[in-house]
Amino acid sequence: MLPFSQFDRHGRLRHLITLEGFSAEQIRELLERAQHFLRRPGELAARGHALAGITVGNIFTEPSTRTRSSFELAARRLGADVINLEIMLSSRVKGETVLDTIYTLQAMAVDVFVIRDAEPGVGQFVAEHVAEHVSVLSAGEAHLSHPTQGLLDALTILQFKGGFRDLVVAVVGDVRHSRVARSAYQVFTALGVGELRIVAPDALMPEPGEMPGAKRFGSIEAGIAHADVVMMLRIQKERMADAAIPDPHDYFARWGLNRARLKLARPEAIVMHPGPMNREIEIAGEVADGPQSVIRQQVTNGVAVRMAVLERVIQNRNLRRDAR
Ligand code: CP
Repeated sequence: MLPFSQFDRHGRLRHLITLEGFSAEQIRELLERAQHFLRRPGELAARGHALAGITVGNIFTEPSTRTRSSFELAARRLGADVINLEIMLSSRVKGETVLDTIYTLQAMAVDVFVIRDAEPGVGQFVAEHVAEHVSVLSAGEAHLSHPTQGLLDALTILQFKGGFRDLVVAVVGDVRHSRVARSAYQVFTALGVGELRIVAPDALMPEPGEMPGAKRFGSIEAGIAHADVVMMLRIQKERMADAAIPDPHDYFARWGLNRARLKLARPEAIVMHPGPMNREIEIAGEVADGPQSVIRQQVTNGVAVRMAVLERVIQNRNLRRDAR
């Protein structure tokens, strides 16, 4: 069996499990396309027919608001049928295997699986087993990968800062357990961010050797000083042993982004957070809702990026089919 690749034999994107190995050009091309799907507030949402006749299956075994809704809206706005498998109401709870679930839905002509799973490797495992015309897109894999989040974060920075080379980007908080941070690291590194910082208490730092090239900071004050982008991360309680979960008041006092701390960053710095937010734990409500926050724009960009990715894998599938 060939080693797993997200790309088909012509080098075209077929699955999206991770951003690792993506070139700046591949990322920029997706971001450029995503921009076409953005509209001004109050205008009707962008629509198209690129997914007419296609069926998208959302299979989420972890909770989600943003990713699931945006994948569903993205698919519907491009003309797809969408099914959302309620995993607790599915036959998985009766012991059906992941693959039996996938093969069952594939037999109903699902063309694209969008998968969020707490277990590492499920997305790739499914991608290795689906039929040739089927694509698998990660909607978040354990602590490892959240590729469309990485793309929407990059798009947000591009919109507000116009580029990456001259920027200081600080990723702050529970980096260790964060798939958002890992995809951010991959996309920012590929795009050549000027200085990438990871800022975390010891217990929430990734292992030494992970994220090479990023500068490590053990205090939020030093870590966000003169930053152009401050990306706050959620405390991932669900991925920690009980003993490791920080006391919320203590964490906010030492590590929360409040107005006073934000003044240490550049005056025109933007504040990002992937959501869901723990207000008054990692970020003060007044900062999350304040003038430097671009958190809602990140959400808006999520739909556009997912439209671009869905459109791309289906276009590539059509090219493969036409070549046969
Ligand atoms: N950012 C993100 O993945 O949010 P959800 O868990 O709500 O999808």
